[in-house]
Amino acid sequence: MNQQPLAGKTAVVTGAAQGIGNAIARRLAAEGARVVILDISQEGAERAAADLENDAIGIHADISKAEDVDLAFSEVIERLGQLDILVNNAGVVGTDTPVKDLEESDWDSVLGVNLKGTFLCSRAAVNHMIEHQSGVIVSVASISGKEGNANMAPYSVSKAGVICFTKTLAKEVLTDGIRVNCVAPALIDSPLLDGIDPERVDFLTSKIPLGRLGKPEEVAATILFLVSDESTFATGACFDVSGGRATY
Ligand SMILES: NC(=O)c1ccc[n+]([C@@H]2O[C@H](COP(=O)([O-])OP(=O)(O)OC[C@H]3O[C@@H](n4cnc5c(N)ncnc54)[C@H](O)[C@@H]3O)[C@@H](O)[C@H]2O)c1
Repeated sequence: MNQQPLAGKTAVVTGAAQGIGNAIARRLAAEGARVVILDISQEGAERAAADLENDAIGIHADISKAEDVDLAFSEVIERLGQLDILVNNAGVVGTDTPVKDLEESDWDSVLGVNLKGTFLCSRAAVNHMIEHQSGVIVSVASISGKEGNANMAPYSVSKAGVICFTKTLAKEVLTDGIRVNCVAPALIDSPLLDGIDPERVDFLTSKIPLGRLGKPEEVAATILFLVSDESTFATGACFDVSGGRATY
């Protein structure tokens, strides 16, 4: 790779105030990108941006709301003038509940952030990228979107949706110079795990052949590959970061 493979590029990373998104934002900034952190926590977004290289910016947006997303992307274009990279990372895990007891509101809130949010941010980004006939989008799906985890139906379904959305959008923008991919991590050591029953965390960790949790930096490294010019023949695909758990 070049010394600074993302020099001169601008990148929006959603949900980057903490966890995996924060590791992605750090890595993209370290590789030369000017990064915008879009997060539902304004304070978190601003604090995380202040910590990054290359004049990073923190902007508040609830990605499940079209109005928030469209306003935020307008601000990005106004302040940065261009958008080369979108990483759809923001996500919520929801409650640990079997389908028979699941509330409609649990379903709607998880699907609203993880799947609708990915659609809304991608729509805002591609409208800009198509004009410029260039861009890269990577979304953070999950191994649960391939396998379906018990008691996590809204989460698993939303991530299966992200994988299919990736394949669909990639085909639509193939000839516009835009590549669209996603990653499917297994369990990664981040604050998201605080919201999962510890017994389920142990169970899910036991399903990882490498025998440990992944690190946010390991997801960030795969995403760097996918947003860089080292992966120019890769589009419409799901890349596993699963310690050997994914078998297809
Ligand atoms: N941690 C894991 O084991 C794991 C595994 C596979 C996939 N993932 C996925 O990776 C992504 C990041 O997860 P994480 O573990 O870093 O989680 P996290 O809870 O540590 O961080 C999520 C971030 O998203 C932000 N966010 C939440 N709702 C939002 C909204 N409506 N609008 C904007 N921002 C919002 C939060 O404020 C937070 O900064 C998620 O999509 C998650 O599903 C995580």
